[in-house]
Amino acid sequence: RTRGLTRRRLLGGGAAAAGAVGLGAGAIALTGRDTGAQTAPASEPFYGRHQAGIATAPQTHAAFVGFDLRPGLDRDDIAGILKIWTGDAARLTQGAAALADTEPELAARPARLTVTAGLGPGVFTAAGLEHRKPAWLRPLPPFVIDRLEPAWSDGDLLLQICADEATTVAHAVRVLCRSVTSLLTVRWVQRGFRDAAPGQTPRNLMGQVDGTVNIAAGTPDFDRLVWDDGAVQPWLAGGTSLVLRRIAMTLDTWDEIDPEGRELTVGRKLGNGAPLTGSREFDEPDFAAVDAHGIPVIPPSAHIARARHTHDGERFLRRGYNYDDAPAPGQTSNSGLLFAAYQRDVDVQYLPVQQRLADFDALNVWTTPIGSSVFVIPPGVPEPGGYLGQTLFE
Ligand code: HEM
Repeated sequence: RTRGLTRRRLLGGGAAAAGAVGLGAGAIALTGRDTGAQTAPASEPFYGRHQAGIATAPQTHAAFVGFDLRPGLDRDDIAGILKIWTGDAARLTQGAAALADTEPELAARPARLTVTAGLGPGVFTAAGLEHRKPAWLRPLPPFVIDRLEPAWSDGDLLLQICADEATTVAHAVRVLCRSVTSLLTVRWVQRGFRDAAPGQTPRNLMGQVDGTVNIAAGTPDFDRLVWDDGAVQPWLAGGTSLVLRRIAMTLDTWDEIDPEGRELTVGRKLGNGAPLTGSREFDEPDFAAVDAHGIPVIPPSAHIARARHTHDGERFLRRGYNYDDAPAPGQTSNSGLLFAAYQRDVDVQYLPVQQRLADFDALNVWTTPIGSSVFVIPPGVPEPGGYLGQTLFE
Protein backbone atom coordinates (compact mmCIF):
# COMPACT_ATOMS: atom_id res chain seq x y z
CA ARG A 1 0.00 0.00 0.00
CA THR A 2 2.75 2.40 0.92
CA ARG A 3 4.53 1.67 -2.30
CA GLY A 4 1.40 2.25 -4.35
CA LEU A 5 0.85 5.58 -2.69
CA THR A 6 4.41 6.63 -3.24
CA ARG A 7 4.20 5.63 -6.86
CA ARG A 8 1.14 7.76 -7.40
CA ARG A 9 2.75 10.69 -5.65
CA LEU A 10 5.85 10.46 -7.77
CA LEU A 11 3.92 10.19 -11.00
CA GLY A 12 1.92 13.20 -9.91
CA GLY A 13 4.86 15.55 -10.14
CA GLY A 14 8.16 16.81 -8.87
CA ALA A 15 6.92 18.13 -5.53
CA ALA A 16 6.69 14.58 -4.28
CA ALA A 17 10.42 14.21 -4.38
CA ALA A 18 10.90 14.66 -0.68
CA GLY A 19 10.32 10.98 -0.10
CA ALA A 20 12.88 10.06 -2.70
CA VAL A 21 15.86 11.72 -1.08
CA GLY A 22 17.55 11.48 2.21
CA LEU A 23 17.34 7.75 2.70
CA GLY A 24 20.63 6.34 3.78
CA ALA A 25 22.39 3.11 2.95
CA GLY A 26 20.33 1.20 5.52
CA ALA A 27 17.10 1.83 3.69
CA ILE A 28 18.71 0.86 0.42
CA ALA A 29 19.97 -2.43 1.78
CA LEU A 30 16.52 -3.22 3.14
CA THR A 31 14.83 -2.58 -0.16
CA GLY A 32 17.49 -4.68 -1.84
CA ARG A 33 16.56 -7.66 0.31
CA ASP A 34 12.90 -7.07 -0.39
CA THR A 35 13.45 -7.36 -4.10
CA GLY A 36 15.20 -10.68 -3.72
CA ALA A 37 18.79 -9.78 -4.51
CA GLN A 38 20.63 -13.00 -3.69
CA THR A 39 24.17 -12.62 -4.84
CA ALA A 40 26.19 -9.45 -4.43
CA PRO A 41 26.22 -8.09 -7.99
CA ALA A 42 28.88 -5.50 -8.79
CA SER A 43 27.83 -1.98 -8.01
CA GLU A 44 29.39 1.44 -8.42
CA PRO A 45 29.09 3.98 -5.59
CA PHE A 46 26.40 6.62 -6.10
CA TYR A 47 27.52 9.24 -3.60
CA GLY A 48 30.69 11.22 -4.17
CA ARG A 49 32.25 14.51 -5.13
CA HIS A 50 31.75 13.70 -8.81
CA GLN A 51 28.87 11.98 -10.54
CA ALA A 52 29.64 8.39 -11.46
CA GLY A 53 29.70 7.34 -15.11
CA ILE A 54 32.59 9.52 -16.23
CA ALA A 55 35.69 8.36 -14.38
CA THR A 56 33.98 4.97 -14.06
CA ALA A 57 35.58 2.24 -16.19
CA PRO A 58 33.21 2.17 -19.17
CA GLN A 59 30.41 -0.34 -18.84
CA THR A 60 29.29 -2.49 -21.76
CA HIS A 61 25.92 -0.85 -22.41
CA ALA A 62 24.76 2.75 -22.43
CA ALA A 63 21.62 4.74 -23.05
CA PHE A 64 21.78 8.50 -23.41
CA VAL A 65 18.33 9.99 -22.90
CA GLY A 66 17.62 13.60 -23.88
CA PHE A 67 14.55 15.30 -22.39
CA ASP A 68 12.57 18.47 -23.10
CA LEU A 69 10.99 20.42 -20.26
CA ARG A 70 7.24 20.61 -20.48
CA PRO A 71 6.11 24.24 -20.88
CA GLY A 72 5.72 26.39 -17.79
CA LEU A 73 8.14 24.62 -15.45
CA ASP A 74 10.01 26.72 -12.93
CA ARG A 75 13.08 26.39 -10.79
CA ASP A 76 11.36 24.30 -8.10
CA ASP A 77 9.97 21.89 -10.67
CA ILE A 78 13.42 21.35 -12.14
CA ALA A 79 14.98 20.86 -8.72
CA GLY A 80 12.13 18.41 -8.04
CA ILE A 81 13.03 16.36 -11.13
CA LEU A 82 16.62 16.15 -9.97
CA LYS A 83 15.51 15.10 -6.50
CA ILE A 84 13.42 12.30 -7.92
CA TRP A 85 16.32 11.13 -10.09
CA THR A 86 18.65 11.32 -7.10
CA GLY A 87 16.43 9.04 -5.07
CA ASP A 88 15.87 6.60 -7.91
CA ALA A 89 19.53 6.50 -8.90
CA ALA A 90 20.77 6.10 -5.31
CA ARG A 91 18.67 2.96 -5.04
CA LEU A 92 18.98 1.46 -8.51
CA THR A 93 22.76 1.76 -8.61
CA GLN A 94 22.97 -0.22 -5.36
CA GLY A 95 20.68 -3.00 -6.54
CA ALA A 96 17.54 -1.76 -4.79
CA ALA A 97 14.21 -1.07 -6.42
CA ALA A 98 13.24 2.55 -6.97
CA LEU A 99 10.29 3.87 -4.95
CA ALA A 100 7.96 3.78 -7.92
CA ASP A 101 9.47 0.63 -9.40
CA THR A 102 6.90 -1.46 -11.25
CA GLU A 103 9.41 -4.26 -11.91
CA PRO A 104 11.45 -4.31 -8.69
CA GLU A 105 12.90 -7.72 -9.60
CA LEU A 106 14.87 -6.06 -12.38
CA ALA A 107 16.72 -3.88 -9.89
CA ALA A 108 18.49 -6.84 -8.29
CA ARG A 109 21.38 -6.86 -10.77
CA PRO A 110 22.92 -3.38 -10.79
CA ALA A 111 25.75 -4.64 -13.03
CA ARG A 112 27.84 -1.54 -12.26
CA LEU A 113 24.93 0.73 -13.14
CA THR A 114 25.69 4.44 -13.16
CA VAL A 115 23.20 7.25 -13.69
CA THR A 116 24.69 10.57 -14.74
CA ALA A 117 22.49 13.65 -15.05
CA GLY A 118 23.21 16.63 -17.29
CA LEU A 119 21.60 20.02 -17.85
CA GLY A 120 21.15 21.77 -21.18
CA PRO A 121 20.91 25.52 -21.75
CA GLY A 122 17.09 25.45 -21.50
CA VAL A 123 17.24 24.58 -17.80
CA PHE A 124 19.03 27.82 -16.96
CA THR A 125 16.45 29.86 -18.87
CA ALA A 126 13.45 28.12 -17.32
CA ALA A 127 14.94 28.30 -13.83
CA GLY A 128 15.92 31.96 -14.15
CA LEU A 129 19.56 31.03 -13.53
CA GLU A 130 21.19 32.42 -16.69
CA HIS A 131 23.89 34.06 -14.58
CA ARG A 132 25.01 30.63 -13.42
CA LYS A 133 25.20 29.14 -16.91
CA PRO A 134 28.74 28.26 -18.00
CA ALA A 135 29.78 30.40 -21.00
CA TRP A 136 30.41 27.29 -23.13
CA LEU A 137 26.94 25.80 -22.56
CA ARG A 138 25.27 26.24 -25.94
CA PRO A 139 24.90 24.16 -29.11
CA LEU A 140 28.20 23.68 -30.96
CA PRO A 141 28.56 26.02 -33.95
CA PRO A 142 27.59 24.42 -37.26
CA PHE A 143 30.36 22.56 -39.11
CA VAL A 144 30.44 21.92 -42.86
CA ILE A 145 30.48 18.17 -42.24
CA ASP A 146 27.28 18.29 -40.15
CA ARG A 147 24.00 16.85 -41.30
CA LEU A 148 22.31 17.30 -37.94
CA GLU A 149 18.84 15.97 -37.31
CA PRO A 150 16.79 17.75 -34.62
CA ALA A 151 15.56 14.35 -33.49
CA TRP A 152 19.11 13.51 -32.34
CA SER A 153 20.18 16.94 -31.14
CA ASP A 154 19.95 19.34 -28.20
CA GLY A 155 17.69 18.69 -25.19
CA ASP A 156 17.05 20.40 -21.85
CA LEU A 157 18.11 17.53 -19.61
CA LEU A 158 20.19 14.41 -20.04
CA LEU A 159 20.45 11.06 -18.36
CA GLN A 160 23.42 8.90 -19.23
CA ILE A 161 22.68 5.41 -18.00
CA CYS A 162 25.43 2.79 -18.22
CA ALA A 163 25.68 -0.79 -16.97
CA ASP A 164 27.28 -4.07 -17.88
CA GLU A 165 23.90 -5.63 -18.61
CA ALA A 166 21.39 -4.40 -21.19
CA THR A 167 18.39 -5.38 -19.06
CA THR A 168 19.67 -3.22 -16.21
CA VAL A 169 20.01 -0.24 -18.55
CA ALA A 170 16.54 -0.77 -20.01
CA HIS A 171 14.99 -0.99 -16.56
CA ALA A 172 16.77 2.11 -15.27
CA VAL A 173 15.74 4.08 -18.36
CA ARG A 174 12.16 3.04 -17.87
CA VAL A 175 12.06 3.88 -14.16
CA LEU A 176 13.82 7.22 -14.53
CA CYS A 177 11.68 8.34 -17.48
CA ARG A 178 8.47 7.19 -15.91
CA SER A 179 8.99 8.95 -12.61
CA VAL A 180 9.15 12.39 -14.29
CA THR A 181 6.63 11.89 -17.05
CA SER A 182 4.40 14.77 -15.90
CA LEU A 183 7.33 17.19 -16.11
CA LEU A 184 9.45 16.07 -19.07
CA THR A 185 9.05 14.55 -22.50
CA VAL A 186 11.65 12.20 -23.93
CA ARG A 187 13.30 13.88 -26.90
CA TRP A 188 15.65 11.08 -27.88
CA VAL A 189 17.14 7.85 -26.62
CA GLN A 190 20.51 6.82 -28.00
CA ARG A 191 21.59 3.31 -27.10
CA GLY A 192 25.09 2.01 -27.52
CA PHE A 193 27.49 -0.75 -26.57
CA ARG A 194 31.19 -1.44 -26.32
CA ASP A 195 32.89 -4.77 -25.77
CA ALA A 196 36.44 -5.52 -24.77
CA ALA A 197 38.29 -7.99 -22.60
CA PRO A 198 39.25 -6.43 -19.24
CA GLY A 199 42.06 -3.94 -19.73
CA GLN A 200 41.72 -4.00 -23.52
CA THR A 201 40.65 -1.13 -25.77
CA PRO A 202 37.37 -1.80 -27.61
CA ARG A 203 36.82 -1.60 -31.35
CA ASN A 204 34.35 0.62 -33.17
CA LEU A 205 32.17 -0.70 -35.99
CA MET A 206 34.69 0.37 -38.65
CA GLY A 207 36.91 -2.28 -37.04
CA GLN A 208 39.42 0.11 -35.49
CA VAL A 209 40.80 -0.08 -31.98
CA ASP A 210 39.17 3.08 -30.59
CA GLY A 211 40.04 4.74 -27.29
CA THR A 212 43.81 4.27 -27.08
CA VAL A 213 44.85 7.87 -26.48
CA ASN A 214 42.79 9.05 -23.55
CA ILE A 215 42.98 10.57 -20.09
CA ALA A 216 43.25 7.98 -17.33
CA ALA A 217 40.83 8.29 -14.41
CA GLY A 218 42.38 9.18 -11.08
CA THR A 219 45.38 10.99 -12.56
CA PRO A 220 46.26 14.68 -12.05
CA ASP A 221 45.55 15.16 -15.79
CA PHE A 222 42.00 13.92 -15.28
CA ASP A 223 41.47 16.27 -12.33
CA ARG A 224 42.84 19.19 -14.29
CA LEU A 225 41.24 18.55 -17.68
CA VAL A 226 37.92 16.92 -16.85
CA TRP A 227 36.71 18.15 -13.44
CA ASP A 228 35.73 21.76 -12.97
CA ASP A 229 37.36 23.51 -9.99
CA GLY A 230 34.65 26.12 -9.46
CA ALA A 231 36.92 29.03 -10.39
CA VAL A 232 34.35 30.59 -12.76
CA GLN A 233 31.08 29.09 -11.50
CA PRO A 234 31.55 28.03 -7.88
CA TRP A 235 28.45 25.80 -7.98
CA LEU A 236 30.09 23.68 -10.71
CA ALA A 237 33.14 22.57 -8.68
CA GLY A 238 33.46 18.81 -9.22
CA GLY A 239 31.30 18.86 -12.34
CA THR A 240 32.20 18.79 -16.04
CA SER A 241 30.66 18.97 -19.51
CA LEU A 242 29.51 16.42 -22.05
CA VAL A 243 29.57 16.88 -25.81
CA LEU A 244 27.54 14.07 -27.35
CA ARG A 245 27.83 13.67 -31.11
CA ARG A 246 25.95 10.99 -33.00
CA ILE A 247 28.23 10.13 -35.90
CA ALA A 248 26.93 7.84 -38.64
CA MET A 249 29.36 5.51 -40.41
CA THR A 250 28.86 4.76 -44.10
CA LEU A 251 29.91 1.16 -43.82
CA ASP A 252 28.92 0.18 -47.37
CA THR A 253 31.60 2.37 -48.92
CA TRP A 254 34.06 1.75 -46.07
CA ASP A 255 33.80 -1.93 -47.06
CA GLU A 256 35.36 -1.01 -50.42
CA ILE A 257 38.60 0.22 -48.83
CA ASP A 258 41.47 -2.26 -48.50
CA PRO A 259 43.25 -2.72 -45.17
CA GLU A 260 46.15 -0.45 -46.12
CA GLY A 261 43.77 2.35 -47.09
CA ARG A 262 41.93 1.90 -43.82
CA GLU A 263 45.14 2.17 -41.83
CA LEU A 264 46.24 5.31 -43.68
CA THR A 265 42.84 6.89 -42.97
CA VAL A 266 43.29 6.67 -39.22
CA GLY A 267 47.09 6.48 -38.95
CA ARG A 268 46.99 3.28 -36.92
CA LYS A 269 47.20 -0.46 -37.65
CA LEU A 270 44.05 -2.51 -37.76
CA GLY A 271 45.59 -5.52 -36.01
CA ASN A 272 46.47 -3.98 -32.66
CA GLY A 273 45.87 -0.24 -33.02
CA ALA A 274 49.60 0.58 -33.06
CA PRO A 275 50.51 3.83 -34.80
CA LEU A 276 51.83 3.28 -38.35
CA THR A 277 55.24 4.33 -37.02
CA GLY A 278 55.22 1.80 -34.16
CA SER A 279 54.49 -1.82 -33.33
CA ARG A 280 52.54 -1.73 -30.07
CA GLU A 281 49.22 -0.05 -29.32
CA PHE A 282 50.57 2.49 -26.86
CA ASP A 283 53.72 3.42 -28.81
CA GLU A 284 53.92 7.18 -29.35
CA PRO A 285 53.08 8.07 -32.97
CA ASP A 286 55.95 9.76 -34.82
CA PHE A 287 54.26 12.32 -37.04
CA ALA A 288 57.61 13.47 -38.46
CA ALA A 289 58.66 10.01 -39.73
CA VAL A 290 58.95 9.66 -43.54
CA ASP A 291 59.46 6.61 -45.74
CA ALA A 292 62.27 6.02 -48.28
CA HIS A 293 60.54 8.38 -50.72
CA GLY A 294 60.18 11.17 -48.15
CA ILE A 295 56.44 10.58 -47.74
CA PRO A 296 55.04 10.85 -44.18
CA VAL A 297 54.35 7.40 -42.70
CA ILE A 298 51.31 8.82 -40.91
CA PRO A 299 49.59 11.02 -43.51
CA PRO A 300 48.91 14.58 -42.25
CA SER A 301 45.29 13.95 -43.28
CA ALA A 302 44.98 10.88 -41.03
CA HIS A 303 42.43 11.07 -38.24
CA ILE A 304 45.01 10.86 -35.44
CA ALA A 305 47.21 13.51 -37.07
CA ARG A 306 44.27 15.92 -37.27
CA ALA A 307 42.76 15.03 -33.89
CA ARG A 308 46.01 15.16 -31.91
CA HIS A 309 46.06 18.06 -29.43
CA THR A 310 48.30 20.94 -30.46
CA HIS A 311 48.79 21.86 -26.79
CA ASP A 312 48.00 20.27 -23.48
CA GLY A 313 44.80 22.29 -22.95
CA GLU A 314 43.15 20.70 -26.01
CA ARG A 315 42.74 17.30 -24.41
CA PHE A 316 39.49 15.71 -23.22
CA LEU A 317 38.11 12.36 -22.10
CA ARG A 318 36.52 10.16 -24.77
CA ARG A 319 34.03 7.59 -23.50
CA GLY A 320 32.02 6.69 -26.57
CA TYR A 321 29.74 3.80 -27.51
CA ASN A 322 28.98 2.04 -30.77
CA TYR A 323 25.43 2.14 -32.05
CA ASP A 324 23.87 -0.30 -34.47
CA ASP A 325 20.21 0.38 -35.14
CA ALA A 326 17.72 -0.97 -37.65
CA PRO A 327 18.51 0.22 -41.18
CA ALA A 328 15.97 2.22 -43.16
CA PRO A 329 14.17 0.28 -45.91
CA GLY A 330 16.58 -0.52 -48.74
CA GLN A 331 19.69 0.09 -46.60
CA THR A 332 21.99 -2.49 -45.07
CA SER A 333 23.23 -0.72 -41.98
CA ASN A 334 22.53 2.12 -39.60
CA SER A 335 25.65 2.15 -37.46
CA GLY A 336 28.06 4.61 -35.98
CA LEU A 337 29.47 6.09 -32.86
CA LEU A 338 27.87 7.85 -29.91
CA PHE A 339 30.92 10.04 -29.51
CA ALA A 340 30.96 11.28 -25.92
CA ALA A 341 33.61 13.80 -24.85
CA TYR A 342 34.00 15.18 -21.31
CA GLN A 343 35.99 18.29 -20.53
CA ARG A 344 36.05 21.21 -18.15
CA ASP A 345 35.63 23.77 -20.93
CA VAL A 346 34.04 22.90 -24.27
CA ASP A 347 35.26 26.07 -26.01
CA VAL A 348 38.88 25.68 -25.00
CA GLN A 349 39.36 21.90 -25.13
CA TYR A 350 36.85 20.42 -27.56
CA LEU A 351 36.02 23.06 -30.17
CA PRO A 352 39.50 23.54 -31.70
CA VAL A 353 39.85 19.78 -32.24
CA GLN A 354 36.37 19.46 -33.73
CA GLN A 355 37.05 22.44 -35.99
CA ARG A 356 40.28 20.85 -37.27
CA LEU A 357 38.48 17.59 -38.02
CA ALA A 358 35.68 19.48 -39.78
CA ASP A 359 38.25 21.39 -41.86
CA PHE A 360 39.88 18.14 -42.90
CA ASP A 361 40.05 14.54 -41.74
CA ALA A 362 40.47 11.56 -44.07
CA LEU A 363 37.82 9.77 -42.00
CA ASN A 364 35.15 12.31 -42.98
CA VAL A 365 34.51 10.45 -46.25
CA TRP A 366 32.85 7.68 -44.24
CA THR A 367 31.53 9.50 -41.18
CA THR A 368 28.73 12.09 -40.80
CA PRO A 369 27.63 13.85 -37.62
CA ILE A 370 23.85 13.55 -37.45
CA GLY A 371 23.25 14.56 -33.83
CA SER A 372 24.85 17.01 -31.45
CA SER A 373 24.21 18.19 -27.92
CA VAL A 374 26.08 19.86 -25.09
CA PHE A 375 25.30 19.46 -21.39
CA VAL A 376 26.77 20.62 -18.15
CA ILE A 377 27.27 17.72 -15.76
CA PRO A 378 26.73 19.00 -12.21
CA PRO A 379 28.95 17.73 -9.40
CA GLY A 380 28.07 14.55 -7.57
CA VAL A 381 25.92 14.21 -4.47
CA PRO A 382 28.44 13.97 -1.62
CA GLU A 383 26.20 12.10 0.81
CA PRO A 384 22.62 10.98 1.48
CA GLY A 385 20.26 13.90 1.95
CA GLY A 386 21.62 15.93 -0.95
CA TYR A 387 20.40 15.92 -4.53
CA LEU A 388 21.83 16.24 -8.03
CA GLY A 389 22.30 19.87 -9.03
CA GLN A 390 21.77 21.11 -5.47
CA THR A 391 24.64 23.60 -5.59
CA LEU A 392 23.05 25.24 -8.64
CA PHE A 393 19.68 25.74 -7.01
CA GLU A 394 20.61 26.76 -3.46
C1 HEM B 1 41.62 8.90 -32.03
C2 HEM B 1 38.02 6.82 -34.51
C3 HEM B 1 35.45 10.93 -34.21
C4 HEM B 1 38.91 12.87 -31.49
C5 HEM B 1 40.87 7.99 -32.73
C6 HEM B 1 41.32 6.67 -33.13
C7 HEM B 1 40.30 6.09 -33.80
C8 HEM B 1 39.23 7.03 -33.87
C9 HEM B 1 40.27 4.70 -34.39
C10 HEM B 1 42.70 6.07 -32.83
C11 HEM B 1 42.77 5.29 -31.55
C12 HEM B 1 42.61 6.13 -30.32
O1 HEM B 1 43.52 6.85 -29.89
O2 HEM B 1 41.52 6.07 -29.78
C13 HEM B 1 37.02 7.76 -34.64
C14 HEM B 1 35.79 7.54 -35.37
C15 HEM B 1 35.08 8.69 -35.29
C16 HEM B 1 35.85 9.63 -34.51
C17 HEM B 1 35.42 6.25 -36.07
C18 HEM B 1 33.73 9.01 -35.86
C19 HEM B 1 32.83 8.11 -36.21
C20 HEM B 1 36.17 11.81 -33.45
C21 HEM B 1 35.73 13.13 -33.10
C22 HEM B 1 36.71 13.68 -32.33
C23 HEM B 1 37.76 12.69 -32.21
C24 HEM B 1 34.41 13.77 -33.51
C25 HEM B 1 36.78 15.03 -31.66
C26 HEM B 1 36.13 16.09 -32.04
C27 HEM B 1 39.92 11.94 -31.39
C28 HEM B 1 41.12 12.17 -30.61
C29 HEM B 1 41.92 11.03 -30.79
C30 HEM B 1 41.17 10.13 -31.65
C31 HEM B 1 41.45 13.40 -29.77
C32 HEM B 1 43.31 10.79 -30.20
C33 HEM B 1 44.30 11.41 -31.16
C34 HEM B 1 45.73 11.24 -30.71
O3 HEM B 1 46.17 12.10 -29.95
O4 HEM B 1 46.37 10.27 -31.09
N1 HEM B 1 39.60 8.19 -33.21
N2 HEM B 1 37.01 9.02 -34.14
N3 HEM B 1 37.40 11.58 -32.91
N4 HEM B 1 39.98 10.72 -31.99
FE1 HEM B 1 38.54 9.90 -33.11
